[in-house]
Amino acid sequence: MRKKVIAGNWKMNKVLSEANGFVEEVVIKVPKSDNVEAIVCAPFPYLASLVEKSKGSDVKISAQNMHFEDNGAFTGEVSPVMLKDIGVTHVVLGHSERREYFAETDETVNKKTHAAFNHGLTPIVCVGETLEQREANETMNHVGDQVKNALEGLSNEQVAETIIAYEPIWAIGTGKTASSEDANEVCSHIRNVVKEVSTVETAEKVVIQYGGSVKPANIEELLTQSDIDGALVGGASLEAESFLQLVEAGT
Ligand code: G3P
Repeated sequence: MRKKVIAGNWKMNKVLSEANGFVEEVVIKVPKSDNVEAIVCAPFPYLASLVEKSKGSDVKISAQNMHFEDNGAFTGEVSPVMLKDIGVTHVVLGHSERREYFAETDETVNKKTHAAFNHGLTPIVCVGETLEQREANETMNHVGDQVKNALEGLSNEQVAETIIAYEPIWAIGTGKTASSEDANEVCSHIRNVVKEVSTVETAEKVVIQYGGSVKPANIEELLTQSDIDGALVGGASLEAESFLQLVEAGT
Protein backbone atom coordinates (compact mmCIF):
# COMPACT_ATOMS: atom_id res chain seq x y z
CA MET A 1 0.00 0.00 0.00
CA ARG A 2 1.24 3.49 -0.84
CA LYS A 3 1.87 5.98 1.96
CA LYS A 4 -0.24 9.12 2.10
CA VAL A 5 1.91 12.20 1.68
CA ILE A 6 0.58 15.51 2.98
CA ALA A 7 2.65 18.53 2.00
CA GLY A 8 1.97 22.09 3.08
CA ASN A 9 3.16 24.62 0.54
CA TRP A 10 3.41 27.95 2.35
CA LYS A 11 4.30 29.79 -0.88
CA MET A 12 5.60 33.33 -0.08
CA ASN A 13 4.15 33.60 3.41
CA LYS A 14 5.30 33.90 7.05
CA VAL A 15 8.19 35.60 8.83
CA LEU A 16 10.88 33.58 10.58
CA SER A 17 9.26 33.57 14.04
CA GLU A 18 5.98 32.30 12.54
CA ALA A 19 7.77 29.61 10.53
CA ASN A 20 9.73 28.41 13.57
CA GLY A 21 6.66 28.45 15.80
CA PHE A 22 4.67 26.41 13.30
CA VAL A 23 7.30 23.66 13.05
CA GLU A 24 7.92 23.62 16.82
CA GLU A 25 4.22 22.93 17.33
CA VAL A 26 3.87 20.44 14.49
CA VAL A 27 6.83 18.25 15.51
CA ILE A 28 5.26 17.78 18.93
CA LYS A 29 1.72 17.13 17.72
CA VAL A 30 2.22 15.33 14.40
CA PRO A 31 0.46 11.94 14.46
CA LYS A 32 2.87 9.00 14.69
CA SER A 33 1.91 6.74 11.82
CA ASP A 34 3.70 4.68 9.20
CA ASN A 35 0.86 5.42 6.78
CA VAL A 36 1.45 9.13 6.40
CA GLU A 37 4.33 11.49 5.70
CA ALA A 38 4.15 15.19 6.62
CA ILE A 39 6.18 17.70 4.63
CA VAL A 40 6.51 21.46 5.09
CA CYS A 41 7.48 23.39 1.94
CA ALA A 42 8.94 26.65 3.20
CA PRO A 43 10.63 29.74 1.72
CA PHE A 44 14.43 29.46 1.32
CA PRO A 45 15.48 31.72 4.24
CA TYR A 46 13.76 29.46 6.80
CA LEU A 47 14.87 26.06 5.57
CA ALA A 48 18.03 25.61 7.67
CA SER A 49 16.26 26.67 10.84
CA LEU A 50 13.26 24.43 10.15
CA VAL A 51 15.50 21.43 9.41
CA GLU A 52 17.12 21.95 12.84
CA LYS A 53 13.73 22.21 14.54
CA SER A 54 12.38 19.10 12.81
CA LYS A 55 15.42 16.89 13.55
CA GLY A 56 14.46 13.54 15.07
CA SER A 57 10.78 14.06 14.17
CA ASP A 58 8.68 12.63 11.35
CA VAL A 59 8.29 16.04 9.71
CA LYS A 60 10.25 16.61 6.50
CA ILE A 61 11.30 19.99 5.16
CA SER A 62 11.03 20.86 1.47
CA ALA A 63 12.09 23.77 -0.72
CA GLN A 64 9.57 25.28 -3.16
CA ASN A 65 11.97 25.48 -6.10
CA MET A 66 15.67 25.28 -6.97
CA HIS A 67 18.08 25.73 -9.90
CA PHE A 68 19.25 22.67 -11.84
CA GLU A 69 22.96 23.58 -11.77
CA ASP A 70 25.18 22.67 -8.80
CA ASN A 71 26.74 26.14 -8.55
CA GLY A 72 27.91 29.06 -10.70
CA ALA A 73 27.04 32.55 -11.88
CA PHE A 74 23.28 32.43 -11.32
CA THR A 75 22.58 35.41 -9.09
CA GLY A 76 19.66 34.90 -6.78
CA GLU A 77 19.37 31.17 -7.35
CA VAL A 78 19.63 28.25 -4.92
CA SER A 79 21.15 24.92 -5.95
CA PRO A 80 20.36 21.30 -5.07
CA VAL A 81 23.80 21.02 -3.46
CA MET A 82 22.90 23.81 -1.03
CA LEU A 83 19.54 22.27 -0.17
CA LYS A 84 21.01 18.83 0.42
CA ASP A 85 23.83 20.30 2.50
CA ILE A 86 21.43 21.87 5.01
CA GLY A 87 19.31 18.72 5.34
CA VAL A 88 16.34 19.51 3.10
CA THR A 89 14.76 16.27 1.81
CA HIS A 90 12.22 17.36 -0.82
CA VAL A 91 11.79 20.05 -3.44
CA VAL A 92 8.64 21.25 -5.23
CA LEU A 93 9.27 21.56 -8.96
CA GLY A 94 7.17 23.07 -11.74
CA HIS A 95 4.47 24.61 -9.57
CA SER A 96 1.97 26.38 -11.85
CA GLU A 97 2.86 29.72 -10.23
CA ARG A 98 6.48 29.23 -11.27
CA ARG A 99 5.41 28.16 -14.75
CA GLU A 100 3.18 31.23 -15.05
CA TYR A 101 5.29 33.98 -13.44
CA PHE A 102 8.89 32.72 -13.60
CA ALA A 103 9.21 31.09 -17.02
CA GLU A 104 9.43 27.52 -15.73
CA THR A 105 9.04 25.09 -18.63
CA ASP A 106 8.72 21.33 -19.01
CA GLU A 107 12.37 21.35 -20.06
CA THR A 108 13.63 23.12 -16.93
CA VAL A 109 11.38 20.96 -14.75
CA ASN A 110 12.97 17.87 -16.30
CA LYS A 111 16.50 19.23 -15.69
CA LYS A 112 15.55 20.02 -12.09
CA THR A 113 14.03 16.57 -11.57
CA HIS A 114 17.33 14.99 -12.67
CA ALA A 115 19.30 17.42 -10.50
CA ALA A 116 17.13 16.55 -7.47
CA PHE A 117 17.86 12.83 -7.83
CA ASN A 118 21.54 13.47 -8.51
CA HIS A 119 21.71 15.09 -5.08
CA GLY A 120 19.44 12.79 -3.10
CA LEU A 121 16.41 15.11 -2.98
CA THR A 122 12.88 13.85 -3.64
CA PRO A 123 11.08 15.95 -6.26
CA ILE A 124 7.42 16.87 -5.91
CA VAL A 125 6.56 17.56 -9.55
CA CYS A 126 3.47 19.71 -10.14
CA VAL A 127 1.26 19.35 -13.20
CA GLY A 128 -2.18 20.67 -14.03
CA GLU A 129 -4.43 22.30 -16.60
CA THR A 130 -5.94 25.76 -16.93
CA LEU A 131 -9.70 26.30 -16.99
CA GLU A 132 -9.51 26.93 -20.76
CA GLN A 133 -7.72 23.63 -21.29
CA ARG A 134 -10.28 21.79 -19.16
CA GLU A 135 -13.17 23.33 -21.08
CA ALA A 136 -11.52 22.42 -24.39
CA ASN A 137 -11.15 18.78 -23.22
CA GLU A 138 -7.38 19.03 -23.27
CA THR A 139 -6.78 18.07 -19.63
CA MET A 140 -5.61 14.50 -20.16
CA ASN A 141 -3.28 15.30 -23.05
CA HIS A 142 -1.81 18.35 -21.38
CA VAL A 143 -1.26 16.73 -18.00
CA GLY A 144 0.02 13.53 -19.64
CA ASP A 145 2.58 15.51 -21.64
CA GLN A 146 3.73 17.42 -18.55
CA VAL A 147 4.25 14.13 -16.70
CA LYS A 148 6.13 12.48 -19.59
CA ASN A 149 8.36 15.52 -20.04
CA ALA A 150 9.15 15.81 -16.34
CA LEU A 151 10.11 12.13 -16.06
CA GLU A 152 12.07 11.90 -19.33
CA GLY A 153 15.37 10.06 -18.88
CA LEU A 154 14.84 8.97 -15.26
CA SER A 155 15.42 5.36 -14.23
CA ASN A 156 12.41 3.30 -13.13
CA GLU A 157 13.67 3.51 -9.54
CA GLN A 158 13.76 7.30 -9.75
CA VAL A 159 10.32 7.45 -11.33
CA ALA A 160 8.98 5.29 -8.49
CA GLU A 161 10.34 7.76 -5.95
CA THR A 162 8.98 10.87 -7.66
CA ILE A 163 5.95 12.49 -6.06
CA ILE A 164 3.56 13.88 -8.66
CA ALA A 165 1.15 16.61 -7.59
CA TYR A 166 -1.90 17.10 -9.79
CA GLU A 167 -3.04 20.68 -9.27
CA PRO A 168 -5.73 21.96 -11.66
CA ILE A 169 -4.84 25.65 -11.95
CA TRP A 170 -8.47 26.76 -11.74
CA ALA A 171 -8.75 25.12 -8.30
CA ILE A 172 -5.69 26.78 -6.74
CA GLY A 173 -6.56 29.37 -4.11
CA THR A 174 -10.04 29.77 -5.55
CA GLY A 175 -12.04 27.69 -3.07
CA LYS A 176 -13.15 25.56 -6.05
CA THR A 177 -11.96 21.99 -5.46
CA ALA A 178 -12.18 19.49 -8.30
CA SER A 179 -14.76 16.86 -7.32
CA SER A 180 -12.98 13.88 -5.83
CA GLU A 181 -14.10 11.74 -8.79
CA ASP A 182 -12.78 14.27 -11.35
CA ALA A 183 -9.51 14.60 -9.46
CA ASN A 184 -9.19 10.83 -9.28
CA GLU A 185 -9.86 10.45 -12.99
CA VAL A 186 -6.86 12.65 -13.79
CA CYS A 187 -4.69 11.00 -11.12
CA SER A 188 -5.55 7.57 -12.61
CA HIS A 189 -4.60 8.89 -16.03
CA ILE A 190 -1.28 10.10 -14.59
CA ARG A 191 -0.64 6.62 -13.18
CA ASN A 192 -1.36 5.14 -16.63
CA VAL A 193 1.07 7.57 -18.22
CA VAL A 194 3.72 6.55 -15.67
CA LYS A 195 2.98 2.93 -16.60
CA GLU A 196 3.55 3.74 -20.29
CA VAL A 197 6.91 5.40 -19.64
CA SER A 198 8.13 2.88 -17.06
CA THR A 199 6.60 -0.33 -15.71
CA VAL A 200 3.38 -1.44 -14.00
CA GLU A 201 5.31 -2.00 -10.74
CA THR A 202 6.80 1.50 -10.92
CA ALA A 203 3.41 3.10 -11.56
CA GLU A 204 1.95 1.27 -8.57
CA LYS A 205 4.62 2.81 -6.34
CA VAL A 206 4.36 6.44 -7.49
CA VAL A 207 2.71 8.77 -5.00
CA ILE A 208 0.21 11.07 -6.71
CA GLN A 209 -1.12 14.02 -4.74
CA TYR A 210 -4.06 16.27 -5.48
CA GLY A 211 -3.77 20.01 -4.85
CA GLY A 212 -6.22 22.88 -5.19
CA SER A 213 -8.30 24.27 -2.30
CA VAL A 214 -7.75 21.19 -0.15
CA LYS A 215 -8.86 21.75 3.45
CA PRO A 216 -9.74 19.67 6.50
CA ALA A 217 -13.38 19.58 5.36
CA ASN A 218 -12.71 17.93 1.99
CA ILE A 219 -9.45 15.98 2.38
CA GLU A 220 -10.97 12.78 3.70
CA GLU A 221 -13.16 12.30 0.66
CA LEU A 222 -10.25 13.03 -1.67
CA LEU A 223 -8.07 10.47 0.13
CA THR A 224 -10.67 7.71 -0.27
CA GLN A 225 -10.10 7.78 -4.04
CA SER A 226 -8.11 4.94 -5.57
CA ASP A 227 -5.34 7.02 -7.13
CA ILE A 228 -5.05 10.00 -4.78
CA ASP A 229 -2.21 9.35 -2.34
CA GLY A 230 -2.04 12.66 -0.56
CA ALA A 231 -2.35 16.39 -0.98
CA LEU A 232 -0.28 19.45 -1.74
CA VAL A 233 -1.96 22.20 0.22
CA GLY A 234 -1.53 25.97 0.10
CA GLY A 235 -3.88 28.17 2.14
CA ALA A 236 -5.05 25.49 4.58
CA SER A 237 -1.46 24.58 5.47
CA LEU A 238 -0.61 27.99 6.91
CA GLU A 239 -2.03 27.34 10.37
CA ALA A 240 -0.48 24.49 12.37
CA GLU A 241 -3.84 23.28 13.62
CA SER A 242 -5.29 22.97 10.14
CA PHE A 243 -2.10 21.34 8.78
CA LEU A 244 -2.21 18.79 11.61
CA GLN A 245 -5.83 17.98 10.78
CA LEU A 246 -4.83 17.38 7.16
CA VAL A 247 -2.02 15.03 8.25
CA GLU A 248 -4.37 13.26 10.65
CA ALA A 249 -6.72 12.57 7.73
CA GLY A 250 -3.93 10.62 6.07
CA THR A 251 -3.36 8.23 8.98
O1 G3P B 1 0.77 24.00 -4.01
C1 G3P B 1 -0.44 24.11 -3.35
C2 G3P B 1 -1.42 24.86 -4.11
O2 G3P B 1 -1.06 25.49 -5.25
C3 G3P B 1 -2.83 24.82 -3.74
O3 G3P B 1 -3.09 26.02 -3.09
O4 G3P B 1 -4.31 27.44 -1.54
O5 G3P B 1 -5.54 26.14 -3.28
O6 G3P B 1 -4.52 24.95 -1.35
P1 G3P B 1 -4.45 26.15 -2.28
